[in-house]
Order: sequence, then C-alpha cells, then structure tokens
Amino acid sequence: MQLPPPRGPLSAWLNDRLTGSDDGDRTIVVGPSGRPFADDDLQLALWVAYELQYRGFDEVDPDRQWDPSVIAFRTQLERPWIAWLEANCRIRPTDEPVAEQLRALIDADDGPRLAPYLRRHASTEQFREFVLHRSVYQLKEADPHSFGIPRLDGAAKAALVEIEADEYGGGRWERMHSELFRTTMRWLELDDTYGYYVSEVPAVTLAVSNVMSLFAIHRRWTAALIGHLAALEMTSTHPNRQYAAGAARLGASPAQARYFTEHVEADAVHEQIAAHDLCGSYVRQHPDALADVLFGARCSLALDNLFAKQLLTRWNAPARNPRRAATATG
Ligand SMILES: [Fe+2]
Ligand SMILES: [Fe+2]
Repeated sequence: MQLPPPRGPLSAWLNDRLTGSDDGDRTIVVGPSGRPFADDDLQLALWVAYELQYRGFDEVDPDRQWDPSVIAFRTQLERPWIAWLEANCRIRPTDEPVAEQLRALIDADDGPRLAPYLRRHASTEQFREFVLHRSVYQLKEADPHSFGIPRLDGAAKAALVEIEADEYGGGRWERMHSELFRTTMRWLELDDTYGYYVSEVPAVTLAVSNVMSLFAIHRRWTAALIGHLAALEMTSTHPNRQYAAGAARLGASPAQARYFTEHVEADAVHEQIAAHDLCGSYVRQHPDALADVLFGARCSLALDNLFAKQLLTRWNAPARNPRRAATATG
C-alpha cells in the first residue's frame, strides 16, 4: 500500500522520514493531547508507525522498521495515548477467577446501540460505511493478536493458537476471516485492497486498530493483548447475529453475509477458549498479570464504544442503550 496523506505535522514528519525526504536533522516533539483517540494527526502517525510491523508501504525501505528516529518518535506518540488509556480503562481486579471478572466487565458495559441499529434501520449506504470503517482492522483480522503466540507458554499458547487457527481459516485461505470480510466488502461495492480506506477514516477508527497494535508489538503488554482478544471474542456472537440479519434485510446472500454468520458460530466457542484457556491459564502462570488482562479488555470495550458512537452520531441515530450492545468481532 501507499503511505496515506498526512493530516498534520506529526504524520507529515513521519512520512518525510520514511521516504527519506527528511535528512534526519529536523526534530519533532509530540505535545500533549487531551483526547488522543480523536486526534487525527496523532492516530494516523501511530497507524503508519505500527504498519511498519505488518505489511509496510510500497515506497518505504523495509529497514525503516528499525530506524531509531522512527522508534523514538513512535514512543513519543504512544505517551499521551497510553496515558489516556490508563486514565480511562484501568480497573481494580478482585479475587474472582479472571474469566468471571471478564464476564462481569462485559456485562456491565453499557455501549451505544450500533448492532440493533444496523439490524433494523441502517440504509445500504450506512451499512457500507460501517463495513468501510471496519475494513481498516478486518483486512488484517487476527494479525495483531498473533504477535502474542511466541510470547506465551503451555496451555495459554495452545489456546491462542487454537483461536488464531480458526481466524486464519484452519489452513484454507478462502475461509480466513479477512477473506470472508472481503466478500462482504465486494457485495457493498467497496475496494477490498488492504489499507485502501485508511486515508478516509477518522481518528477513532484508526484508534480501534492502534490499541491492538500497541499491545501487539510491545512484549510488556502481552497480558493486555490477550485480555483485548478475550473482550473481542466475548462481545462478538450477539452483535454478529444482528449484523447478519441487517445484511440479509438489505439483500445480502448467505455468502455475502457469511463473515457475520461465521462469527456467530465460531465466537461462541472462541469466547470460552479466550476467557478460560487463554486468560485463565496465563493468569495462573503469571498472577501479577491479572490487572493488565482486565485493562486490555476494558480498552477494547472503550474503543469499540467510541467507534459505535461516532457512526451513530454521524447518522443521527439514537446512541443511548438501556442494555449493553457490543460492536466487536474477534
Ligand atoms: Fe474472526
Ligand atoms: Fe473469533
């Protein structure tokens, strides 16, 4: 993919550095950001910096992945981002098993009603917009959490591999969840090229991916990474049933809606594996990691709620929710 156009001085500095048009003498300081999740320049610069760990960019030398000035810059970008996550998503653990604490956290979450809206009311254009935003992550679905595999041992590693094997289609590329998502994109006449819509989506949509990448590339956030995955899996079945119904209402064939129906089935199993076998085993191995597992899960819920609120606000749809309605897909 091509580097997305910059949205301010931070993303401009990074693009210049990555393409070699900056000789390295020009320094940049990342200032404070009160709402980093809504800061377009900050989130785009983070997204580009993280993408160096995935597919990279056509015009960027692969060795830029380990350019010390780029890594130092990324560290600066992460400071206000992590500070906001810590201030808003850190919760105090209890003595209950981690699976029960994850369940309680999710049951207490009172998110915007995106899934019911998509099921009953969304126009084709709104559904297309939803899928366009989601493509920023879904075209690399499971890739961030795969960074956790070499960092785990024993039962936790086996559990993560079991989940990820399903996400990657069990060895059949056409069944990879990212490929199923491509079929849904084509139904809506969207371009399914990796990263195609990054330059169009706002900060919050990028932040949904950036929180995963933050946890993925830093080994010190391994516990948060698996907590994040658990929250995705545990909030997937019910909303995906509603997305599938919304897609069918708008004329999608079973194949075109299969991405959603697949997650109704698969994530009913994944949520058990993630909560008990993955997070449960990991916390037994690393009791001090409990707080970070819950932190990762809370970050996932918080960013998905902001994402849902963004779309419902754009559509002038009611965002309040008497009961929780999650938006994620694992
Ligand atoms: Fe999936
Ligand atoms: Fe899943």
